Amino acid sequence: MSQTRFAPRVFSGIQPSGGLTLGNYLGALKRFVDMQDTGDFETIYCMVDLHAITVWQDPEKLRHNTRELAAGFIASGIDPEKSVLINQSQVPEHAQLGWVFNCVARMGWMGRMTQWKDKAGKNAEKASLGLFAYPSLMAADILVYHATHVPVGEDQKQHLELTRDIATKFNHDYGVDFFPITEPVIEGAATRVMSLRDGSKKMSKSDPSDASRINMTDDADTIAKKIRKAKTDPEALPSEADGLKDRPEARNLVNIYAAMANMSVDQVLAEHGGAQFGTFKPALADLAVAHLAPISTEMARLMDDTAEIDRILARGAERARAITAPILKQTYEIIGMVAPVEA
Ligand code: TRP
Repeated sequence: MSQTRFAPRVFSGIQPSGGLTLGNYLGALKRFVDMQDTGDFETIYCMVDLHAITVWQDPEKLRHNTRELAAGFIASGIDPEKSVLINQSQVPEHAQLGWVFNCVARMGWMGRMTQWKDKAGKNAEKASLGLFAYPSLMAADILVYHATHVPVGEDQKQHLELTRDIATKFNHDYGVDFFPITEPVIEGAATRVMSLRDGSKKMSKSDPSDASRINMTDDADTIAKKIRKAKTDPEALPSEADGLKDRPEARNLVNIYAAMANMSVDQVLAEHGGAQFGTFKPALADLAVAHLAPISTEMARLMDDTAEIDRILARGAERARAITAPILKQTYEIIGMVAPVEA
């Protein structure tokens, strides 16, 4: 199926479930900013609050976390004039197309999703129906914009394949070439940030140890202290990437340095090869503080008066709906809904 009639459009989403880490920044936000700034795509970024409530969310915390995530996007460099920045519930076409896709997707497809199996566990009977339908709403998020490219982490690959399956089945069932077959843009290993306490585990906001992660709201002292205390091995840094094999903690710190300095791992090692962690860690801490402190300061400023955030989201929703309303209308026409008469 030809992709050419679809304009290059990026869509991605993050759940406002609280606590942004360096992992979210390097793995998602910074990549989103880079895609925005290439100018090669129209970029649409979303706080997926409707996905968040597939598991219990305290209402006041959800509202706070949604605004804080918006502040994180903006402070990281998402320009609400260049990109469309929205929260999902303010653009009703996501949920409306989601329902249509619930009728396209098959129970069997959903049941095979590893995220469903992991999250529902043995107690699927007690999981919400929304958690089961989660990937179908995600497909709607993407396809309601006819988005062509979706930057996500490795863990979302299966959901994007399902998005392609839904588009293909819809196009086939109705004999149309209406939804694009979206390309995943999967993050590379270099931006996958691991725990500072265990180089084999992903850095996560839900790790019980706060020392395992750098939060985007941490101040300069906290960032520097966590990097100084990060787990390492006793060897000096190698001078080539090969030497990081079987040294997950060392590799993680070098990856973080490379991602923040916009350098390759080999470039970092060309500079720092032979250095002990006693010298490399302070260099990394300086870089991290220089990078993150302005972001956390700007987040705090935005959170101080949330009216500005709310205005930005309202404006984003308006711009989004200029795209989504016509696509939903055409979808309804294709599937045989009677259109409202012009009043
Ligand atoms: N499921 C994604 C995650 O947990 C979040 C998400 C929802 C998303 N809708 C999306 C990501 C659409 C990309 C595109 O990371």
